[in-house]
Amino acid sequence: MNGIIVAIDGPAASGKSTTARRVAQRLDYCHLNSGLLYRTIAWLGLRDDWIHDSDRFAYELERIRITMERRSPGFIVRANGEIPGDELTAPQTAIRASHVAARLDVRERVLEVLRAAGLNGGIACDGRDIGTVVFPDAALKIFLVASVEERARRRVADHGVEPDRERLELEISRLRERDARDSARDLAPLLRAPEAIEIDTTRLTPDEVVDEIVGLAVERGA
Ligand code: DC
Repeated sequence: MNGIIVAIDGPAASGKSTTARRVAQRLDYCHLNSGLLYRTIAWLGLRDDWIHDSDRFAYELERIRITMERRSPGFIVRANGEIPGDELTAPQTAIRASHVAARLDVRERVLEVLRAAGLNGGIACDGRDIGTVVFPDAALKIFLVASVEERARRRVADHGVEPDRERLELEISRLRERDARDSARDLAPLLRAPEAIEIDTTRLTPDEVVDEIVGLAVERGA
């Protein structure tokens, strides 16, 4: 192993990806964003119009070639050789990703890709089931939480739009819907591993969160 595995789980928009990327940069590791794989499958299914037909979905999924190339500070994901673009961050892709993530065939496929990418350690990986299912032996497990209002505010700011009441309400209902689906599903639901350290980021700056995790990672051998 070239470094430990830092597993960062939490609900949508709790700051996992930004935190994992910055933790990886500080440790000279790579950031492995598991949500990106679910989003990539959803994006292809939407674009090529097989997302709504379950049998066709299974057929197409088997044929997608997903590759991950370690390129500091992250991984480059390719689906059939294509690098997905900005569509991956669209709210519609996130909602569809949350739906496809409940399928067994999708989870098995993503699990295989993530484990291969993390084989040599030296990663900060974020998602919903990283500490529970994907890397249950990770040396450090973090569970990030934040109030739904704060998560909606951050999401709206990420999209660069005015955070008026209406937009915030819409984002809050989207986040609640996605959290409910991600937590209630039978397969690898969003769960805090018993040994995961919970950090509530509602009133913390990104730097404070990153400092705390980097400190813990160093204590555990990073
Ligand atoms: O982290 P994210 O918002 O990019 O994830 C998009 C969706 O993918 C999320 O709503 C649920 C799913 N997901 C998952 O089921 N398991 C993971 N480890 C990561 C994401």
